[in-house]
Amino acid sequence: MEEPGTPRSVGNNLDPWYSNYAERTAGLSASEVRALFAVASRPEVVSLAGGMPNVSALPHDVITDSIARVMREQGATALQYGSGAGQPVLREQILEVMALEGIRGTVDNVVTTVGSQQALDLVTKLFIDPGDVILAEAPSYVGAIGVFRSYQASVVHVAMDDDGLIPDALRQTIAQLRGQGRRIKFLYTIPNFHNPAGITLSAERRPEILEICRANEILVVEDNPYGLLYFDHPAPDALRSIDDEGVIYLGSFSKTLAPGFRVGWVLAPHAIREKLILAAESAILSPSAFSQLTVAEYLKTADWKGQIDTFRGVYHERKKAMVSALAEYLPDLTWTDPNGGFYVWLSLPDQLDSKQMLPRAVKELVAFTPGTAFFADGRGRHAMRLSFCHPTPENIRVGIRRLATVINGEIDLLETFAGTGMLESRSSDRHVSTPPPNLN
Ligand SMILES: Cc1ncc(COP(=O)(O)O)c(C=O)c1O
Repeated sequence: MEEPGTPRSVGNNLDPWYSNYAERTAGLSASEVRALFAVASRPEVVSLAGGMPNVSALPHDVITDSIARVMREQGATALQYGSGAGQPVLREQILEVMALEGIRGTVDNVVTTVGSQQALDLVTKLFIDPGDVILAEAPSYVGAIGVFRSYQASVVHVAMDDDGLIPDALRQTIAQLRGQGRRIKFLYTIPNFHNPAGITLSAERRPEILEICRANEILVVEDNPYGLLYFDHPAPDALRSIDDEGVIYLGSFSKTLAPGFRVGWVLAPHAIREKLILAAESAILSPSAFSQLTVAEYLKTADWKGQIDTFRGVYHERKKAMVSALAEYLPDLTWTDPNGGFYVWLSLPDQLDSKQMLPRAVKELVAFTPGTAFFADGRGRHAMRLSFCHPTPENIRVGIRRLATVINGEIDLLETFAGTGMLESRSSDRHVSTPPPNLN
């Protein structure tokens, strides 16, 4: 018998419980770029890596007033457990927010969640058995890929072009998977100002994508945290506005207000909503009443639409700074020019590997997210995501100038040593792992 206090045989030197973890935790490996991001968060580094909203553009006094009023007028409710479906007053207001994107729903079918990240977790928990297929754009949101992995889903990417997901590619992928006897559970899509690609699904393609999914009995999970943050013209109406039975819609206050409240929501067909609430209750009992009531108070008393306009202006200016700096410093490369959201996707020449370049970039005091983070299958080496949401326009220009030094230096190096065999050991790690917490 084992002596109390002796190391357990299931473990190793680093973790005594190593062999006891559930199989699904195999997808929970720490990213090797995590350490670099710790360095990248130093103030001298221009970070084009994270997806942190610009909360300094919020009137903090207005938020403080909302918090104070909630405590004064509804303190007992705010500090108590609430309903698993969320606070009715906020769910009512969420209908108003969604109406801006053409969605008509009922309060009954809205479930508030701890950010849309929890919504992703709940939906995946409800539908995925190990090995089930989730279709997702190529590339896709790193935080969703992480959730899908944690439920042992098999993520199959579908190609996009400048108009978003390509209907023919979707048809072919479905046919191929069906031919292999695979079970496809849902299409996960970010139709507006895509993270990380910056692309928007065109209005013409929206009904077609829905029709393909309907015909193949595939549920659509529409993730839309950036839809209201457009620049020149609004995005087309949400997929959910066209189809209310086949679409689960995820929304969030993280980008239109602040992620610190951790308030998001799901609008789901009635039967699914029932299961969602049960799953949410078993995970967290109820989302924070305090957060929800504060958001509700803010929506009731502040000019929230005006604030979204302010955010749009802030992000638009930064996007312009980024694309003009790219045109100036990296004129030979290609990138997406988004009409909203936070992200530009930069394509690199085939011989460059973005992950390999990251340490040098951080040394040059600029950070980005390597493209591999956004694929479940190891692709993405020849691309990177650049976020324009957080740094000032001036710093964005400085960051792109530094990035150009790194990229041009790398191209030089490769041209100089091409064919000598000296660079062959620079193989890329194809593993996609959990991102650092604020990488989203
Ligand atoms: C596409 C997408 N979905 C979901 C989330 C999660 O957001 P939250 O949980 O803050 O609502 C993010 C965050 O960046 C995102 O970009």
